[in-house]
Amino acid sequence: MAQSMTGLVRSCRCAELEHLIPGRHVTLMGWCHHIRDLGRMLFITLRDRSGEIQLIVEDQASDGLRALAASVRPEYVLAASGRIRERSDPNPRMATGQIELVVEDLRILSESETPPFYIEPDSEANEALRLSHRYLDLRRPDQARRIMQRDRIVLAIRRYFADEGFVDIETPMLGRSTPEGARDYLVPSRVRPGSFYALPQSPQLYKQLLMLAGFDRYIQIARCFRDEDLRADRQPEFTQVDLEMSFVGPNEVMDTVERGVAKVAAETCGIEIPLPLPRLTWDEAMRRFGSDKPDLRFDMELQDVSSQPVITGAGFGPFDEALAADGSVIVLVVPDGGRLSRREIDDLANFVRTYRLGGLPWLVPGPPLRGSIRKFFDDAATAGLASAVGAGANDLILFGCGPTSLVQTAMGQLRVEVASRMGMIDPDRHELLWVTEFPLFEAGEPGDDRLYAKHHPFTRPLDADMDRLETDPLSVRAAAYDIIMDGVELGGGSIRIHESDLQQRMLALLGFTEEEARASFGFLLEAFRYGAPPHGGLAFGLDRFVMLLTGARNIREVIAFPKVQSAADLMTGAPAPVAPEQLEELDLLLGPTAAQAVTAGES
Ligand code: AMO
Repeated sequence: MAQSMTGLVRSCRCAELEHLIPGRHVTLMGWCHHIRDLGRMLFITLRDRSGEIQLIVEDQASDGLRALAASVRPEYVLAASGRIRERSDPNPRMATGQIELVVEDLRILSESETPPFYIEPDSEANEALRLSHRYLDLRRPDQARRIMQRDRIVLAIRRYFADEGFVDIETPMLGRSTPEGARDYLVPSRVRPGSFYALPQSPQLYKQLLMLAGFDRYIQIARCFRDEDLRADRQPEFTQVDLEMSFVGPNEVMDTVERGVAKVAAETCGIEIPLPLPRLTWDEAMRRFGSDKPDLRFDMELQDVSSQPVITGAGFGPFDEALAADGSVIVLVVPDGGRLSRREIDDLANFVRTYRLGGLPWLVPGPPLRGSIRKFFDDAATAGLASAVGAGANDLILFGCGPTSLVQTAMGQLRVEVASRMGMIDPDRHELLWVTEFPLFEAGEPGDDRLYAKHHPFTRPLDADMDRLETDPLSVRAAAYDIIMDGVELGGGSIRIHESDLQQRMLALLGFTEEEARASFGFLLEAFRYGAPPHGGLAFGLDRFVMLLTGARNIREVIAFPKVQSAADLMTGAPAPVAPEQLEELDLLLGPTAAQAVTAGES
């Protein structure tokens, strides 16, 4: 039977050692983590968000107290009063392992059924079960710690930007669709049947309008919504640290952001990030790492060997074909990769197939020379190749050949895959950098002649490339920059277009007719006519930042109530059908597929 806590006042949390001084009388409240009944003595480990402490009910305790303690089960909520004393058998694995509470009064404030999984740091329960009881999952100390670290990180971020003169301004959740490249989550309007709000994919346009309004420096820890395929670092609903600055160029934005990131990482997690961060242009990042988010925690750079005589003269058909079609031959030299089995190498070939690379020829220089294309290389050619790419006798040389950007991307992915399979990545190391000068546009899939904005349509072309905007748009670079941490895109931003005519040219290049541009962005184009300051900014993913700082493997671990692959919340069951009256009120009818799904769900 649960008892009342009337008359009891909690003295402190279970592991707040500054209050838990031997001799002191305290009242603690929390959850029974573990109970051990040794007959004469009974031990309870009491847990709350601060940690755990041992309670002891001694043999001289009253029969009533003894019986009550014996009835406690894991996850019961307890209040225990008594005196703190030093333990005769300290437990070095517990923060409070030097002390214990000798129970004089115990109350069961709430009982618990047997939980569906153990509340342990390394719970092996499957994630779906844990997420459907997330409130229990969050009792696990390592989970709780990440959520509390997130709080510290947010606080440090707010403090930094406030000190730098940024104004925190909220922007609407119910707004117009902003093109950030994903599908919108739509909210139907009741008062304007047939019209919809879009939940923000980012506050992009609002923050630009705040610069026009004169706020100069804006910051918001902003909730964003994107209906896109989920991955380890993507959620449909996530949080951005979103900022915008007036009268700045890329350097001021990058400088402000990197100082903030370094300060917060040092203050909250003791992670030192040397500044200034290295910068690579997009072109260089693609050439050296085959990625616009290179992981610099290990070397193994790509090497373009297209013009090496040993390659052009090898007589290997796929190399010749690639080079004849203006493509490239790019190698990855895997240190000591000679120890990989034939099967492991075949597995890597399968991996690159996902990135549309036809094959993965390989060599280990030796002696003896081994590899799938060894018959094309005699001793002299092998020696020439090994010295050109810096390969040792037992290093594995992997070759990719074909259209340059395809080979770069595939070999870049392979670089990361090999490093992770071969244990080359030190999880305690952090490497950040900027990637700058992204292309302004990207081409559509073959057969689709349209241009797409690589960042978003409000990004400014580099002045030096402005005159090629219409004549050679794919060669135009943007005043855009991404901040990369450990091979993950932490944030992205740009200097913006602030002129109505340039914005209109940009929208025209993206295939908007004048009318469509006016219908979607008329308010922005108009605003630019009333004194728009030059401005730029960036947004970085808060969830990703906390994930990387806390060593989590997935952003779900740093979000209190995350969604799973299908964008569902397993605990509340969202998304869920609504009552027919709600649909009527919105004047909405379900199509046949939706109606069928709802009926199937009911039966
Ligand atoms: P962008 O689309 O690059 O830029 O987003 C900025 C950062 O937000 C994070 N992010 C996500 N995090 C978790 N789940 C997602 N689905 C998700 N999508 C994005 C990433 C990313 O780097 N308005 C521009 C910024 C600007 O130009 O100022 C924008 O949103 O960490």
